[in-house]
Amino acid sequence: MKQDIIVAPSILAADFSRLADEVKRVQAAGADWIHIDVMDGHFVPNITIGAPVVKELRKATNLILDSHLMIENPQKYLDDFIKAGSDIITVHMEAAKDVKSIIEKIKSAKIKAGVSIKPNTPADALNDVLGIVDMVLFMTVEPGFGGQQFMENVLPKIAKIRKSFKGYIQVDGGINEKTAKKAVDAGANVLVAGTYIFGAKDIKKAIDSLKRA
Ligand code: DX5
Ligand code: ZN
Repeated sequence: MKQDIIVAPSILAADFSRLADEVKRVQAAGADWIHIDVMDGHFVPNITIGAPVVKELRKATNLILDSHLMIENPQKYLDDFIKAGSDIITVHMEAAKDVKSIIEKIKSAKIKAGVSIKPNTPADALNDVLGIVDMVLFMTVEPGFGGQQFMENVLPKIAKIRKSFKGYIQVDGGINEKTAKKAVDAGANVLVAGTYIFGAKDIKKAIDSLKRA
């Protein structure tokens, strides 16, 4: 049987002036996790939101809060994101030297830990941490902005890691009904989507179409 697909709407594409309502809206439409894109203007050329927003969203939903840290020196901010109520924290392999100890720190807080690689970072960069992470997040666009086009050349990397990795494989960037299918066929089981979900006329239909990918 095909494994269940988890759909994680990215609030980057939501109306920031009414985030709690937006989260409730996707929850009612069948979202499984809420994906939170944290950007610092250094690791990526854009600035979004920080731990205080996660803390407020924690009051608005009981769904898994999936914090994707696109920031330099993530170790400096781990405590903030843990205390704010994240259920999963993902850091980038490219963002810190000792990602292994960062993962260990996240796990010691009894929450799930993920690592992410950008589209042009080789799968081998994950070797040191594959045995200890709960999730690998493959960026399928250059991180920084929503609404970009899915990069198909990431698919072989997903397939390669799926051969040995049993945890969550998440894809993020340019996910829609068509690209979701390709990612799932390669081995992904957690689909992040911003524009496709929040930009849809019928968000339930959009989420359902991803679950069927
Ligand atoms: C990009 C972010 C993504 C982004 C996806 O840096 O990590 O989560 O919001 O947006 P869409 O689905 O619009 O490509
Ligand atoms: Zn993301």
